[in-house]
Amino acid sequence: MTAFNVPSRTADNAERSPGRSYDSGIRNLVWAVLVGVAVCLPYVGLGAWRIEGQRAAKREARAAYAARLASHDRLIGSPPGPMLPEDVLVRGRAAFDATCAACHTREGTGLRGMGSDLTRSWFVASMDDRSLVGFVAAGRPADHPDNSTGVAMPPRGANDALTDEELADIVAYMRALQDPRRAPTLPERTIAGPSKEQEAQALAAAGGDAELAGYIAHGAAVFASTCSACHGKDARGVAKMGKDLVANEFVKTTGDDDLLAFIKRGRNPGDPLNTTKLDMPARGGNPALSDDDLLDVIEYLRSMQRAAKSGA
Ligand code: HEC
Ligand code: HEC
Repeated sequence: MTAFNVPSRTADNAERSPGRSYDSGIRNLVWAVLVGVAVCLPYVGLGAWRIEGQRAAKREARAAYAARLASHDRLIGSPPGPMLPEDVLVRGRAAFDATCAACHTREGTGLRGMGSDLTRSWFVASMDDRSLVGFVAAGRPADHPDNSTGVAMPPRGANDALTDEELADIVAYMRALQDPRRAPTLPERTIAGPSKEQEAQALAAAGGDAELAGYIAHGAAVFASTCSACHGKDARGVAKMGKDLVANEFVKTTGDDDLLAFIKRGRNPGDPLNTTKLDMPARGGNPALSDDDLLDVIEYLRSMQRAAKSGA
């Protein structure tokens, strides 16, 4: 029996031991899995928490962006901010007209393909004055991720002479463009009289003819206030803005009447005669200019061409 039992026990053992080791294998496996889970849980939890955190951050960023997009609507829907001082606005308007209007128009509504609408810009409405001065000083290159038009906003509107104080005046003027309720009625724009330098140059160019000198000097002042933003100081042109009008065959070969008609009409990029794909706005974008003002500008351009020809 024992003899039988022993082998049978061994057989039993032999039969059971793989079963036992199988059981303990499962136990070990379960343990391993449990330990593994226990070890991983914090990481999984952390991961889930981080994903949730990122989602929340994205939601917040989206909400903040949506709130920014609505900045101008909110501005208009709320009671107006304090009145803006008239003297600041008059200064800001003059500086805006001379530099920014070339692309953004005097009304601030923007010239297609040149500058965006500033009157309803949420970007402007969402920024405080200081950041806006910083933005205008820095501009926004065409390849900047925030650029929406593919056209560059040049630093300081391409006018390096503008000081930060003048930019602050311009920012105040943009506030008025965005919310006219904050602006007192401003005095009519006046065309600045010619400077002493313009008068002296005009007198020399007119060969001492006082009447002609008066026209040329007035034309020079009009040109400086309206045309020079695109055609440059002394009408020598600005790259990608407006042509040189001194070394210019069209101006040379076109009579006064036709030239006046051209300037009054302008030449948009769709015009077959357009050579730059840029807009020459009617009356240089300044509807306040009379025909007499423009004829004086032409007189000024002719004087510049004569001076260039005589090598002066
Ligand atoms: C040569 C043309 C040009 C001139 C000059 C110019 N801008 Fe711009 N400006 C642009 C263009 C183009 C954009 C749009 C850029 C974009 O797509 O993001 C722009 C954008 C802006 C914006 C941002 C608007 C928005 O909603 O994102 C402000 C503010 C601005 N200009 C202010 C000014 C001021 C103030 C001046 C004068 C000091 C000025 N600009 C002169 C072309 C010009
Ligand atoms: C917003 C910019 C801008 C302003 C402001 C502007 N011009 Fe122009 N002007 C242009 C551009 C761009 C052209 C070239 C159009 C083309 O490609 O044919 C042009 C063309 C001209 C031409 C024709 C030159 C040629 O060779 O065909 C004359 C003349 C001219 N401008 C005069 C003026 C006068 C005078 C003023 C001011 C009263 C003025 N412009 C204001 C942008 C401007």
